[in-house]
Amino acid sequence: MSETQAKAVTSATSIESVSQEQRVFPPPEDFAKSARVGSRAAYDALYKRSIDDPAGFFAEQARELRWQAPPQQTLEWRAPHARWFQGGKLNLSDNCLDRHTETWRANKAAIIWEGEPGEVRVFTYRELLREVCRFANALQSLGIRSGDRVGIYMGMVPEAAIAMLACARIGAIHSVVFGGFAAEAVRDRMNDAQAKCVITQDGAFRRGAVVPLKPHVDKAVEQCPTVEHVIVLERTHDPIDMKPGRDHRWSELVEKASAKHTAPALDAEHPLFILYTSGTTGKPKGVMHTTAGYLLGAYLTTKYVFDMRDEDVYWCTADIGWVTGHSYIVYGPLSIGATVLMYEGAPNQPDPARFWQMIERHRVSIFYTAPTAIRTFVKWGDQYPNKHDLSSLRLLGSVGEPINPEAWMWYRKVIGGDRCPIVDTYWQTETGSIVMTPLPGAIASKPGSCSLPFFGISPKVLREDGSEAGVNEGGLLVIDKPWPSMLRTVWGDDERFKQQYFARFPGKYFTGDGARRDADGYFWVMGRIDDVVNVSGHRLGTAEIESALVSHAAVAEAAVVGVPDAMTGQALVAFVTLKGHEKPSAALNAKLMEHVAEEIGKFARPKEIRFAEAVPKTRSGKIMRRLLRDVAQGHETKGDMTTLEDIGVIAKLRAHEEE
Ligand code: WT7
Repeated sequence: MSETQAKAVTSATSIESVSQEQRVFPPPEDFAKSARVGSRAAYDALYKRSIDDPAGFFAEQARELRWQAPPQQTLEWRAPHARWFQGGKLNLSDNCLDRHTETWRANKAAIIWEGEPGEVRVFTYRELLREVCRFANALQSLGIRSGDRVGIYMGMVPEAAIAMLACARIGAIHSVVFGGFAAEAVRDRMNDAQAKCVITQDGAFRRGAVVPLKPHVDKAVEQCPTVEHVIVLERTHDPIDMKPGRDHRWSELVEKASAKHTAPALDAEHPLFILYTSGTTGKPKGVMHTTAGYLLGAYLTTKYVFDMRDEDVYWCTADIGWVTGHSYIVYGPLSIGATVLMYEGAPNQPDPARFWQMIERHRVSIFYTAPTAIRTFVKWGDQYPNKHDLSSLRLLGSVGEPINPEAWMWYRKVIGGDRCPIVDTYWQTETGSIVMTPLPGAIASKPGSCSLPFFGISPKVLREDGSEAGVNEGGLLVIDKPWPSMLRTVWGDDERFKQQYFARFPGKYFTGDGARRDADGYFWVMGRIDDVVNVSGHRLGTAEIESALVSHAAVAEAAVVGVPDAMTGQALVAFVTLKGHEKPSAALNAKLMEHVAEEIGKFARPKEIRFAEAVPKTRSGKIMRRLLRDVAQGHETKGDMTTLEDIGVIAKLRAHEEE
């Protein structure tokens, strides 16, 4: 092959990066002074050790957990199957609870919970342990045993965390289903997991209304032959049907149960939970995590990424139904003995200042949320955060999508008072815990970049042929070494696990994301590889074009998709949501086209810009580009719609189309 041919092949398979972002924010000096990792040199040294000698590094870190029997072998890697800490025995619930109750933390607040209607409940570590023991005994009294699968379909109530910890305590494998899902989604997930028991509540308070959960479970369980028991927490006290023999009230079960329960010693690789993730297409996959490796990942990242201290009040706004809720509301923070704020409801209930009011009321010091939420706050306007005292904040986090640089700047300035570092944490349900992020006292941030890998993580950007991409050359993001909290398999379908994650580049974990690495070694995630668009031979990640649109003062949110085009192969169609006070117009449309041309180049100018009141998102807040592609082409929508947040949004987009 001649050199020019080789080049052509490379550019046809790599993704062109068009981002122009240059700003850099070093860690604030006073933050760095007291941080666990306080300089770039300290990070570099630790990282190097973790990669040169992962077994030694993680064996040492794992000593911070409480073991009932110490591990004999740190890692056995038979690609793609990893086994960590074999021979070791421990109990995750013991690590999160019992261990702290033997110290001064017994009377420390573990969970501060605020209901949407406004009531506050506080559980100290001792109280939380008591509730978890009671519920663990209740589960055992119903015949739930180690290895049984238990579904949890609840809202954001402390009992959801109690149920998870009780399952973990007795070795039952929990599978949390987000409370916003419909009965069909519950049914499919319970059947795939062959669940024996489902834990739910009568209803959940959300946006000033009641979401009926028990009625959904009734409908789902009719078609779930393996489910023997349904446990119902009374939250809203709405009337519900109770099927004798099958259904049990939470209050009655725990009333009879003892508050003492000895945590059994479980194998390091004992399955901990299954969490279904649909990605953006196809049948949901039951991602399976196991005990010790997962716990170590959640614990270490909480310690180093959030630099968590005993004085902190930490708030992660994710739902417990997503992996973020698992790792960074429950297991990570409780394993380190932190104080966690948990909120039941919507961010605009009773008004759009609710979050800021809560930060002021509880003196929150670490706040962790998603780009989709941040863009919504931008749209609502600065007047809401500006009304409240946010001076207690010392660290901000972002997770879930690439954060648009302008949204990052707003977050830093308006919420963080230009004082708090931001950790843009890249990870996945599959990775179990954060895999790339700045460490707030050590690594300078660049808006829109998740920066550098966490300890033990070896990410690479590859071309289709498996060779490593050059500086700033977009390619496919893989992790080429095993890490403790990686998924172990897809529940009931190991073949799918191998195909999905390890077939494209044998022996290497493929994330499904596109990324590039800049001259400083910083990673820039460009979004899902399925979302790459090819315009006149330029392969573009839609996330960067969206960020260009969001950098215009009138725009709150943008979703860009590709549609077939006779001239250019594919052409870009952009759906744009404006800030509260802005109005759509032909003039603004033309201005936005020009803006993209200026920010990126003429080739990236969308063929069409459509204004929309909102763009469709998965329930975890990711833009559903697949549906928008159909809308942009005027096709009927097809495929799995259970993950769509607001189907009405599609109808509205279609109506515009027909006007
Ligand atoms: C996908 C994983 C991880 C917890 C919540 C989502 C995207 C996530 C970032 C980030 C750029 C990000 C990726 C990833 N993603 N965080 N900081 N920067 N992209 O978990 O539902 O399994 O989604 O979310 O595309 O693959 P998930």
